[in-house]
Amino acid sequence: MSRHRIELSINGRRHAGEVEARVSLADFLRDDAGYTGVHLGCEHGVCGACTVMVDGEAVRACLMLAVQADGTVVVTAEGLAAPDGTLHPVQQVMLEEHALQCGFCTPGVVMTLAALTRDGRQPSEQQLLAALSGHVCRCTGYQGIRRAAKRLAGETLEPS
Ligand code: FES
Ligand code: FES
Repeated sequence: MSRHRIELSINGRRHAGEVEARVSLADFLRDDAGYTGVHLGCEHGVCGACTVMVDGEAVRACLMLAVQADGTVVVTAEGLAAPDGTLHPVQQVMLEEHALQCGFCTPGVVMTLAALTRDGRQPSEQQLLAALSGHVCRCTGYQGIRRAAKRLAGETLEPS
C-alpha cells in the first residue's frame, strides 16, 4: 500500500504525517493525531458520530480519506472550546438542555450544529432539525438535542 505525506491544521495546530492511502480521516485523527473525541460508530456514514469540520463544513470523517484532507483546516470537538475552557455556544446550549447521556454521539452532533451556525450563519429550525436527522443517538430520546437545536435557531424553548 502506498504511503503519502500529508500536512493539515487540526484544532489550530499544524500536523504532518505519513499515511497509507486507505486510512480514513477518522482513523488518522484518532490514531495518529490523538483526537479521540472523533467517535466511530457505524464506520459507513450513517450514524454521524465521527463528524468533524473540514474547511468549515461538517464532514463524516469515516467517509473521507486522510490523504483527501491534505492542506485543509480540520476542527474536532476538542477544538471548539476557548483556550481558557469557556465552552463553545453549541456546547453550552447542549449542556443546558441536557442533550446528552452517555456522550457517544455528542461530539458529532456538536460539530454538525457548530458548522451550521458558524460565522454568523443563521440556519432555520428546519435546517437544524434536518441536519440532526443524520445523527443516531441511543440514549436521549432526542428531545434535549432538539431543544438545543431550536435554541440555536433562536426559537423559544419548549418543554419536552
Ligand atoms: S462512524 Fe462515521 S457516520 Fe458512523
Ligand atoms: S448520548 Fe448516548 S448515544 Fe447519544
